[in-house]
Amino acid sequence: MKHLQSGFPIVAVGMSVLIFAGAMSVTRSTTAAGNTAGKMTSSAAPAQGDGALFVEFVSVLRHPRCMNCHSRGDFPRQGDDGHQHAMNVRRGPDGHGVTAEKCSTCHQDHNLSGAHLPPGAPNWGLPPPATPMIWQGLSDAQICRSIKDPKQNKNRNLNQLVEHLTEDKLVAWGWAPGEGRNPVPMSHDEFSAKVKRWQAAGAPCPSEARIKM
Ligand code: HEC
Ligand code: HEC
Repeated sequence: MKHLQSGFPIVAVGMSVLIFAGAMSVTRSTTAAGNTAGKMTSSAAPAQGDGALFVEFVSVLRHPRCMNCHSRGDFPRQGDDGHQHAMNVRRGPDGHGVTAEKCSTCHQDHNLSGAHLPPGAPNWGLPPPATPMIWQGLSDAQICRSIKDPKQNKNRNLNQLVEHLTEDKLVAWGWAPGEGRNPVPMSHDEFSAKVKRWQAAGAPCPSEARIKM
């Protein structure tokens, strides 16, 4: 548990060092190629097109507050270790549980206060089986392509995807998950700003080769 929590920032730092190093070498080789003064300003917009802007916020999507509903298997997960949801809760035909055990039997549209009481947000449930939106086990590049793919993301275009990421209540719950649960560590403002920077650059995905996790 402990190592999982501290693992995220370390990966994030590692990635940004890599990205920074990448940006530096581009700058250096541009300079070496004889482009001086004026051209230097182009380094103010590094990494566009290579997916680095996506990698800057993918740690949020990989956080247990998100992954517990976006993981493999036909059931939600709980806790920072992502163990299978108690009481054999299942995805069900529409993501909202099976007849005898609907999510809404226990989860409301807000967190119940008190440790181990069900958290909640409007529309609490798993994605439906036809588009399960599973990110667990995917590379950064695959997650990026998956959330942009209209066949997998409920026909959202990029604007709608960004709106979902930055404004949807179910997503926002990750920053206020209720007593006893760790919120997503990157601030919501920072996350939204990074998502919008990625959108402005044309939402590039990392190439398969550069991500090895
Ligand atoms: C019988 C009651 C019950 C049902 C039905 C139920 N849940 Fe839960 N769920 C809980 C309780 C209680 C917790 C809090 C456990 C804790 O904090 O120890 C919880 C926690 C969770 C969490 C954990 C959040 C986190 O990040 O740790 C997720 C995700 C979740 N439920 C999703 C669902 C989904 C999706 C459904 C329907 C498919 C569902 N639950 C159905 C009672 C239920
Ligand atoms: C309680 C379960 C639950 C939690 C927690 C949750 N999601 Fe989701 N997520 C869903 C459901 C259900 C959908 C499908 C709803 C829809 O398409 O309108 C969805 C859809 C999405 C999509 C749509 C695109 C796609 O193809 O995947 C994105 C992006 C997303 N969630 C991001 C997040 C992020 C980021 C977090 C954490 C900060 C998060 N979610 C936490 C249940 C959850």
